[in-house]
Amino acid sequence: MDFKTAVANEILTALKAAFGEVDIAPEAIAAALEVPPDTAMGDYAFPCFKLSKALRKSPMMIADALADSIHADFIGKVESVKGYLNFFIDKATYAEKVLGLALSQGERYGADDSGAGKTVVLDYSSINIAKRFHIGHLSTTMIGNSLVRLHRFFGWRAVGVNHLGDWGTQFGKMIAAYKRWGDHDTVAAGGVDEMVKLYVRFNTEAKENPALDDEGRAWFKKIEDGDPEALEIFNWFKSVTLKDAERVYDLLGVKFDSYAGESFYNDKMQPIIDELKAKGLLIEDKGAQIVDLQEWGMPPALILRSDGATLYITRDLAAAKYRKDTYNFDKSLYVVAYQQNLHFKQLFKVLELMGYEWYKQCEHVNFGMVSFGGESLSTREGRVVYLDDLLHEAIAKARAIIEEKSPDLEDKDEVARQVGLGAVVFFDLYNNRIKDIDFTWERALNFDGETGPYVQYTHARACSVLRKAEGVEKAKPDFATLSDPFSQDVMRLIEQFPDILKSAVNRSEPSMVTRFSVDLAQAFNKFYYENKVMVDEPGTRAARLLLTDAVRQVLKQALYLIGVEAPERM
Ligand code: ARG
Repeated sequence: MDFKTAVANEILTALKAAFGEVDIAPEAIAAALEVPPDTAMGDYAFPCFKLSKALRKSPMMIADALADSIHADFIGKVESVKGYLNFFIDKATYAEKVLGLALSQGERYGADDSGAGKTVVLDYSSINIAKRFHIGHLSTTMIGNSLVRLHRFFGWRAVGVNHLGDWGTQFGKMIAAYKRWGDHDTVAAGGVDEMVKLYVRFNTEAKENPALDDEGRAWFKKIEDGDPEALEIFNWFKSVTLKDAERVYDLLGVKFDSYAGESFYNDKMQPIIDELKAKGLLIEDKGAQIVDLQEWGMPPALILRSDGATLYITRDLAAAKYRKDTYNFDKSLYVVAYQQNLHFKQLFKVLELMGYEWYKQCEHVNFGMVSFGGESLSTREGRVVYLDDLLHEAIAKARAIIEEKSPDLEDKDEVARQVGLGAVVFFDLYNNRIKDIDFTWERALNFDGETGPYVQYTHARACSVLRKAEGVEKAKPDFATLSDPFSQDVMRLIEQFPDILKSAVNRSEPSMVTRFSVDLAQAFNKFYYENKVMVDEPGTRAARLLLTDAVRQVLKQALYLIGVEAPERM
């Protein structure tokens, strides 16, 4: 049973009894139910103000009439206070139902099948070839990963796309550099680092020797024309970059369904360009082809440069269309930093002008920047923090903390991996995504703060309590012993979990899950401090164990949904 619905049904019955037929759906009543900030005002409050007009009675009178006629076992008390109807759920019943529901649904608790039959395409991570995976790509990777998991949890088919940045004149320069100074074995062994070195050298030498640029252009032309040698080197650069990136993806447990990147759309842009022309949207501007967006307060979308070259947005138009045709999505998300806000506004506007109603299903899931200890990260200043370095450092630091805190732990390496990565991912997903983040080790790895390690530790604590109870005789739980405010606070959070997840999906906001996990961990730790679990009285013990088990299960699920593992011992 879900209390909100049950309370809403009681209200509806009482409304009919008191005022005859009323034109209001139970869902609308459930949606109007509030959770008072203070339990002294009840578990739910129903404001009667909106009904006042239709029923031609004062809110106070409505609340009084309803309070008189509601009598249900699961409701301990109903009070009419200043136009509000305050419901106090019977605490023992509440505990029994909340824990019963959570534990009987197990891993599916919090889910429903609202996404069944629907498809979401998620464009995330979308790294650039021949560039190292730096901390700037952490948020898109982890927000996207979490959104994939959340959608699948609700039954969606989720297609994860890594829209590789694998097109542009820089790749011609890289081949030119490679042909001049590179060799196969060095690049194969050094990976992306070697490619970056070649590229940097090329740009330095091109300043002295402009002929190099022509060489670069010539190689790019060869890639465009499908010259076998150019393509072979280019594709090899791609596979080397992806091999490097996959190490990071493997560490983080991130997977994609498609790596169709910018170059994939080379042969899919002409139809779009023709269509723009046919629809009268393309206009010439100093030799270039643009879509004018002045009317919507935006600079024009540049579709073709005067030399005929296509642009980032041209590829994105082709990609959007391709994704619609291929996956027939109900929702298409682009998890990309807010620096590209304008780009996506332009993209969606052009799709709208083309008459594609499904532009409404496209959404830019934007997010803020990550700085590191107060320093912004910029490739030019050479202060880039590479993601795999950061992750390995996190694991090493977690290893040292574990060594100190739990010297006897088995699988210290495995736990350090889970905790180190958890710290970074959790930190990244803790704030509202639009906020800029300043990463510091002290805050990410603090076992007592609002961190991944703290939540993981709480989960491990719950596991440890349950392990201790394994040999103990089972008894019938006495739910009345969960009436204290600490137990009730824990259960209120458990009850909210499904709604939190729904909002997180609807708003594309994993941080709601991250924050929830901290709230639940804190509430459980207070409960644990106030209430001994392994008491002698079997009914109390059994009830507290059930609560502990539900917390363990929900914390584990919450962590999974944000892409963080939950070790059972720490
Ligand atoms: N590769 C781009 C970058 O690193 C992100 C691509 C985002 N996806 C897209 N369809 N435009 O900034």
